Amino acid sequence: MTNLQDKKIDKIKSFNKEDWSSAYQNVEKELTKEPLTISKGKNIKNLNGTLLRNGPGILERGGQWVHHPFDGDGMITSIKFENGQPFLTNRFVKTKGYLDLNNALDLKFKNIANTHVVKLGDEILALWEAAGPHAMDPDSLDTIGLTTLKGVLKPNEAFSAHPKTDLNSNASSELLVTFGVQTGPKSTIRLMEFNNAGENPGELIFDRKDTFNGFAFLHDFAITTNWAIFLQNAIDFNPLPFVMGQRGAAQCLKSNPNKKAKFFIIPRESGLFRGQTPLTIDAPEGFVFHHVNAFEKESKIVLDSIFYDDFPSVGPDENFRDIDFDKYPEGKLKRSTIDLKKKTSELETISEQCCEFAVVNPKNLGLTATFSWMASTSQKLGNAPLQAIKKIDLISKEEIYWSAGPSGFVSEPIMVPSENSSKEDEGFLFILLWNGERRGSDLVILDAKDLKELAVYELPISIPHGLHGSWVN
Ligand SMILES: [Fe+2]
Repeated sequence: MTNLQDKKIDKIKSFNKEDWSSAYQNVEKELTKEPLTISKGKNIKNLNGTLLRNGPGILERGGQWVHHPFDGDGMITSIKFENGQPFLTNRFVKTKGYLDLNNALDLKFKNIANTHVVKLGDEILALWEAAGPHAMDPDSLDTIGLTTLKGVLKPNEAFSAHPKTDLNSNASSELLVTFGVQTGPKSTIRLMEFNNAGENPGELIFDRKDTFNGFAFLHDFAITTNWAIFLQNAIDFNPLPFVMGQRGAAQCLKSNPNKKAKFFIIPRESGLFRGQTPLTIDAPEGFVFHHVNAFEKESKIVLDSIFYDDFPSVGPDENFRDIDFDKYPEGKLKRSTIDLKKKTSELETISEQCCEFAVVNPKNLGLTATFSWMASTSQKLGNAPLQAIKKIDLISKEEIYWSAGPSGFVSEPIMVPSENSSKEDEGFLFILLWNGERRGSDLVILDAKDLKELAVYELPISIPHGLHGSWVN
């Protein structure tokens, strides 16, 4: 592993595909409060809190592989720091589909709970966007079961896997803002805001529903103090193989060049424009899974997102463990400026380099942010696995890197701000890494400011390339 501030990133040796694909395997065991031993660096003094991660933990049963890694059963990894010493607990989410082994690969209505994990009130929620959340005990990680969140959700109502923690609203010191989408020829977005601090954490305090024309594939969204922003990609959904249980939802999507992408901009009930009608504004071309952050600037909304030229679909005959990266479009960090008065949007590319899983300091979510951290390729141009962590100054466009290459592969960095500093880039980055050299997982902690490697722990379990996670105090 190398710190790359002074080196050219495109000189890094390219990856070995077997090092990358070796991460795709089943997690073999569940551990409880296993102390982690440091292999490089030092424990972070006075560090307390828990890193939670979700991702597919079972990808193959009886020699039969899932079609796409996003179809693997969810497994939660919790790494709890007690005065700097980490302890690992991991548990599969005991969904109905997980327990019903005979139908393991039948994706029909299977809630795989594998996308994200957050704390709401006194429960941990394992999330999957097309159905309800699974509640888990925060200490033991035992699965409590599918939850309606005290009656907020109808049984199995869709609940997004991308809630936002808003520390900047007028309504509460901490809100969890999220949505569910019911789609068809028309799509209804339910926007929910839960109080997540004070006397009644977990209580739903704002709730609205808005209906838009057309099928909507909405994986993520962004918030500002007054708005919730959705990007409806120009895409069609073929429900048949999904309903038949042959394919996961992501394999039934196809881009439609005759359609136009749209922004749906919904006034937040906790904001100044509560009760007003949403805006629909033409969006730039391209496909987006994830947004980074948004902020308001006079009568405009500025939104940073990871744009692909087209939907990166893995075809039914392709093996996801042996894909040709050159055949797929890469994600690029781009900035949309949406003019709410003129009802127009403009797109600017911030960086041409392939990246995903970009974040800002959680204290800046919904407000302007100078810095963003993300997983990126080691090479400057083209598609490849994510092997580096990049910090970018969104104003000057200056970038620095830390690389896990040539045999390490990174995931979403979780940014935890320093408790006793108000500087935006002071804090830690937590990264679960696939170490291709030893065919195992490492936890790496970097200094968010200069990306210096502070600590590396070799984990006693091997975790496939994962999805999202959060930090819980
Ligand atoms: Fe996601």
